Amino acid sequence: MKPDPPPKSGPAGNLFYDMTDNLHQLLCIGCGARLKGAEAQPDFRCVLCGELFEVEYPGWRERRGNDRPNAGALKWLWRERRASSEALDRSGVWRFRELLPILDSFGDAVTLFEGNTPLYHLPRAARALGIDQLFAKHQGMNPSGSFKDTGMTAALSVAKERGFEWVACASTGNTSAAMAAYAARAGLKSLVLIPDGKIAWGKLSQAMDYGAVTCQLKTDFDGCLTLLTQIVKEAPIYLLNSVNPYRLEGQKTPAFEIAEAFDWNVPDHLIVPGGNLGNSSALGKGFRELHELGLVARMPRISVIQAAGANPLARSFAENDGTALEPVEAHTRATAIRIGNPASWRKAARAIHETGGWCLDVTEAEIAVAKAEIGREGLGCEPASAVTLAGLKKLRARGAVADGETVVLLLTGHTLKDADYTIDFHRGTLLSSEESAGLEGEIEGLRRNALVVEATQAAVLATLKGRVE
Ligand code: F0G
Repeated sequence: MKPDPPPKSGPAGNLFYDMTDNLHQLLCIGCGARLKGAEAQPDFRCVLCGELFEVEYPGWRERRGNDRPNAGALKWLWRERRASSEALDRSGVWRFRELLPILDSFGDAVTLFEGNTPLYHLPRAARALGIDQLFAKHQGMNPSGSFKDTGMTAALSVAKERGFEWVACASTGNTSAAMAAYAARAGLKSLVLIPDGKIAWGKLSQAMDYGAVTCQLKTDFDGCLTLLTQIVKEAPIYLLNSVNPYRLEGQKTPAFEIAEAFDWNVPDHLIVPGGNLGNSSALGKGFRELHELGLVARMPRISVIQAAGANPLARSFAENDGTALEPVEAHTRATAIRIGNPASWRKAARAIHETGGWCLDVTEAEIAVAKAEIGREGLGCEPASAVTLAGLKKLRARGAVADGETVVLLLTGHTLKDADYTIDFHRGTLLSSEESAGLEGEIEGLRRNALVVEATQAAVLATLKGRVE
């Protein structure tokens, strides 16, 4: 159903046109200190307490009654923009620009027409789980193949507006691919620090192709980020990891798209993979702001799923309900989320707490099975994204998800990002027998190795024997 067109007039102050003024400030999530955007330190840490900042729009939370934005008008405007040919309107991030007024001029926005990603029903997985309303919001269908594009368009546009010539990130691969692409579009130079040998080739190839200076370091992601944090304090380079609060402003917009797709009745539950924990934080902020502004009636439960070998937040929730976090040495084949010391864990814990969600971990074999099942739906995703379905199975087995609930899995990366993983799974070389223990049946049922067949009609037909009758 389409929202009603906007009213021709209304009480002063309640229409949307005053929402695009750049009045944002940065709020420290630790000590509550407030800064103007350009006053932040290069590492985006608070000088008083060391915590991270989030973008705040003064006055939004306090708006009541007629002072609130006109919800019907905004919803109508955002939907109408999808039919526009203007560059900003064609972006699934900037068509919601009233809710991210972080630029002095929207003309500075660097866009690859990110966002507006598909929401797919998952009928097979839904049937297997005995729930009806199971969907995948596929952020892998973004221009560089991952959810990072929605954050990169926002933060890189800020870098450009503030006159930086160099941008940089530490990455497990997707951030670097997205950053390199957007930097190239904007004519900026980019520096990528990645852990040597521990990122998928598809992602590395993107950073090279888009022209980044790419350094493979003999350390892990956490080591790369620590080093880069020191570098940006010495050189005029703009840091584009998700400690940069503008990244999260862009990454909150899939929350708006999800709410819009359900006609502004939010789903019951959103399940998100957890690595450095910026994305779950961003989606929590997105739904929180919709709720505070009266655009939706409630927030969905937000659950975060980690790989068992890279599970500091899941451990923290098991041990102290997410109030303290002990870093771990991370190991998982889902290399995108191979992170042991997540920067945004406090923000993510807040999103889980305030929505009544959970944080769990899943094993390597559970991830591989879930990934193959998402493949069977005709969608596919990268391994890190598949933790969402594996986590949902666990939550369902615990009775935490009821039959009638509407659940959305956030798929973060495209299946072609890590083709080696997929091929190893189907060849049967991915997992050890210890890792597969208990799931051998599922794994065998899902494997489809390529067959080596003689180039004759008889030989090809023989391979179908018993399958086509
Ligand atoms: N899924 C994929 C495909 C990712 O690339 C990442 C993070 C995550 C999930 C986790 O998101 O860090 O916001 O909790 N990738 C980062 C990178 C770390 O460098 O590309 P998060």
